[in-house]
Amino acid sequence: MDKKKKLRSSEWFGDDGKMGFVHRSWLRNQGYPDDYFEGRPVIGICNTWSELTPCNGHLRDFAEVVKKGILEAGGVPMEFPVMSLGETIMKPTTMLFRNLASMDTEESIRANPLDGIVLLTGCDKTTPSTIMGACSVDLPTLVVPGGPMLSGRFRGEKVGSGSMNWMIKERQENQGYSAADIREAEVCVARSIGHCNTMGTASTMATMTEALGLTLPGYSSIPAADSRKKMYAQLSGRRIVEMVKEDLTMSKVLTRNAFENAIIVNAAVGGSTNLIIHLTAIARRIGIDLKLEDFDTIGSKIPLLVNMKPSGKYLMEDFYYAGGLPVVMKELTPLLHKETITVNGNALIANYTDAVCYDTDVIAKLEKPFQDKSGIAVLRGNLCENGAVIKPSAASPKLMKHRGKAVVFETMEDYHERIDAPDLDIDENSVIVLKGVGPKGYPGMPEVGNVDLPKKLLAKGITDMVRISDGRMSGTAAGTVVLHVSPESTVGGTLAIVENGDWIELDVNERTLHLDIDQAELDKRKKAWIPPKPVADRGYVKMYIDHVEQADQGADLDFLVGGSGSKVERDLH
Ligand code: FES
Repeated sequence: MDKKKKLRSSEWFGDDGKMGFVHRSWLRNQGYPDDYFEGRPVIGICNTWSELTPCNGHLRDFAEVVKKGILEAGGVPMEFPVMSLGETIMKPTTMLFRNLASMDTEESIRANPLDGIVLLTGCDKTTPSTIMGACSVDLPTLVVPGGPMLSGRFRGEKVGSGSMNWMIKERQENQGYSAADIREAEVCVARSIGHCNTMGTASTMATMTEALGLTLPGYSSIPAADSRKKMYAQLSGRRIVEMVKEDLTMSKVLTRNAFENAIIVNAAVGGSTNLIIHLTAIARRIGIDLKLEDFDTIGSKIPLLVNMKPSGKYLMEDFYYAGGLPVVMKELTPLLHKETITVNGNALIANYTDAVCYDTDVIAKLEKPFQDKSGIAVLRGNLCENGAVIKPSAASPKLMKHRGKAVVFETMEDYHERIDAPDLDIDENSVIVLKGVGPKGYPGMPEVGNVDLPKKLLAKGITDMVRISDGRMSGTAAGTVVLHVSPESTVGGTLAIVENGDWIELDVNERTLHLDIDQAELDKRKKAWIPPKPVADRGYVKMYIDHVEQADQGADLDFLVGGSGSKVERDLH
């Protein structure tokens, strides 16, 4: 850092008059000595710990370890809580609150005497929400990902949190699993502290964070219960103090090339489609122009290097023992932007040159991948004017080009009410169309896009059908599922006017999604379309509905895009 550049915290603590007294005096009740206010970098530890977010339940302990590192390096740690988002608990969906948590993070950082930030994250939305908020302030910031759970075993079988939900449902229906069986299974699968241990959204977000350069290299794959996780947390505490001295702000790390690296790495690990929405929102906060097509052009030619559930065989613990993300990064060297700067101050690839693969059944060589192409396909057509996405590696090859008649459900409730009606006119060639689950419609764009097939078709042995919606899909789910249709039905996108029996054509190779009705009929239906009544008329949910952007833009609130920086002009008196 330029020697003349004062610490931001000195704006609070460096004043010899009344305001300096006020800012320091009340903090003295914590027993802080004089030197805490005399030029030592103040590091905010932004903690998403909550008993209501079980995946982040260990982060209170981790904050103490980070503090040790900060003190060792001469900084002053100050931990603060922000809104936490427990994926399996919150209704109607944590995605409704991602932007609220990001506002909390942003304003908690900006309003306080902080020089650098450590974000403690874990469960799905706690990572993008805090990164988005921190981007809008743009201080030196480092992420400590909480880490995945250890692998579980249920009656001798290795089981993954997240993906086991689908297995239990299937066994309840086909193997008569009782309530007692389910109780036994739930204890086995949630084996230790940490977040879901498949390559679902939480692991995808941790991987994204490391690929962007925001964590210490090698940190994202370590299981939460592994002692090395705490060691890295302590080292992160030490490093953030140095980052403040170097003035290594987020915008210096989060370049356009860093975002491209995150897309490449996500494709190589078979990460969740949720990455698209979160990475886009993060990019827009830090001023990088990332388009929906970038995910396809950059990611869809990348080979799949990781054999992980939900599409593969292994769990995060196996991935870590096989060498973890460092091996993937090293393999991807010819494809990545090598010179992007990471939080340890090194160029990205320099961090991974020594990585060793210990199990090629878990992490493949670039020249012998598990699949030649991975990533996400972006679809265009009259049914998704601003785009839609599909994950080809999770879809059935025979359905990648498909023409079928629409079976339409206007809302999620309509779907639940009619999907198993004996007289529902549906067969395996039909296309299930679900409306009203987009950002404004549900509201919050829940992970329901991979709706279950009707029982009568499951009984015939049908395991996949084309499903289309304006919602999202869990990172632990699979199927020929078209997601994130934009504009969503609630704002009058073409999805809104699809009727039962309309022909729909999906061609993933050609990247098209087409509603086969003539233009005059389409225009007539759009003219006659009546918007649904908003589901809330007060509070945060109303503000969310009024301001949330569409999926192709990252579903942020329109007034949160960009940042306000770290300067606060006015004092409290
Ligand atoms: Fe928290 Fe899966 S429920 S990461």
